[in-house]
Amino acid sequence: MSETLELTVPDDAHLHLRDGDALRITVPATAKVFARAVVMPNLSSPVTTVADALDYRARILAAAGPGTAFDPRMALYLTDAMSSDEIQRAADSPHMVACKLYPQGATTNSEFGVADLEALYPVFEAMQAAHLPLLIHGEATDPDVDVFDREKVFIERSLEPISERFLELPIVFEHVTTSDAVEFVKSARAGVAATITPQHILMNRNDLFAGGLRPHHYCLPVLKRSSHQLAIQQAAISGNSRFFLGTDSAPHSKSSKERDCGCAGCFSAPAALPLYAEAFEQLGALERLEDFASRFAAEFYGWPLNDSTLSLSRKPWKVPERLDYAEGEQIVPYWAGRPLNWQL
Ligand code: NCD
Ligand code: ZN
Repeated sequence: MSETLELTVPDDAHLHLRDGDALRITVPATAKVFARAVVMPNLSSPVTTVADALDYRARILAAAGPGTAFDPRMALYLTDAMSSDEIQRAADSPHMVACKLYPQGATTNSEFGVADLEALYPVFEAMQAAHLPLLIHGEATDPDVDVFDREKVFIERSLEPISERFLELPIVFEHVTTSDAVEFVKSARAGVAATITPQHILMNRNDLFAGGLRPHHYCLPVLKRSSHQLAIQQAAISGNSRFFLGTDSAPHSKSSKERDCGCAGCFSAPAALPLYAEAFEQLGALERLEDFASRFAAEFYGWPLNDSTLSLSRKPWKVPERLDYAEGEQIVPYWAGRPLNWQL
């Protein structure tokens, strides 16, 4: 059994950092491990212009501290009012890498998201022409659709039509959770990829109810049954370059998750790489971790590989029960109080 694991420095292809005071906690947690991250734009006032995104990026860099090597790559939040001119401005900026589609009402701060997908087709056209990737929160929001079926229904009703109509548009199906999504991505046309979170590899929906209701395991898309978890695990370790690391680390304060109507999101950043290492080792595929964590996202986005390495050591530790968060609040990290074998 090897005691150290050396990897090219990884990238996080799906990350929520929030804003303001929270950046002091969220940014260092990621920047100490990841060279680049695709930063999600679902702030409470969403990032809908390139100017807003660049201001937000400056606040992130300030929180990372002087001389940081961390390179946040920004995404624009698509609304029904997005213009093709703004898409062109995004394509022209070296710091903008994508646009994010939140179906209206699908998740945290998605109330400004897209209500009518077909009305947005001219925007997809402009993105395709500029070769700007479309990142998709792939869940149907029709209230008649069972919460556990939302991903599958979205594939049939929306994703397939978009990917077949815009054949040159790069698409990332974010945080996939079902065998349906895995099958779709594997057999889709070139230019379709997916991110996979640690929680969807390590857990299934039983973990939402293990001994009682577990708000810190609640994220969107919600954890699925174990047969789906198995499909996600196999996709992650498959060596197929369409599947890459995106933590979807999504911090919410302890009090906003432990309440009557608790927020969705797992704050995995403090242990992200050890969590993936744990999962890959359990699955007997540690040698596949580097491509998943450090190569495939870069290839998809057309970035150079990071040129430095980091090493993980086999040194058992426990994820802290809680951490300080913004405005005097605390936060419970994902996997709180549980053991992990690997650390930086
Ligand atoms: C994310 C958040 O809180 O911003 N929550 C989550 O459960 N994953 C939003 C998202 O990616 O759906
Ligand atoms: Zn997310």
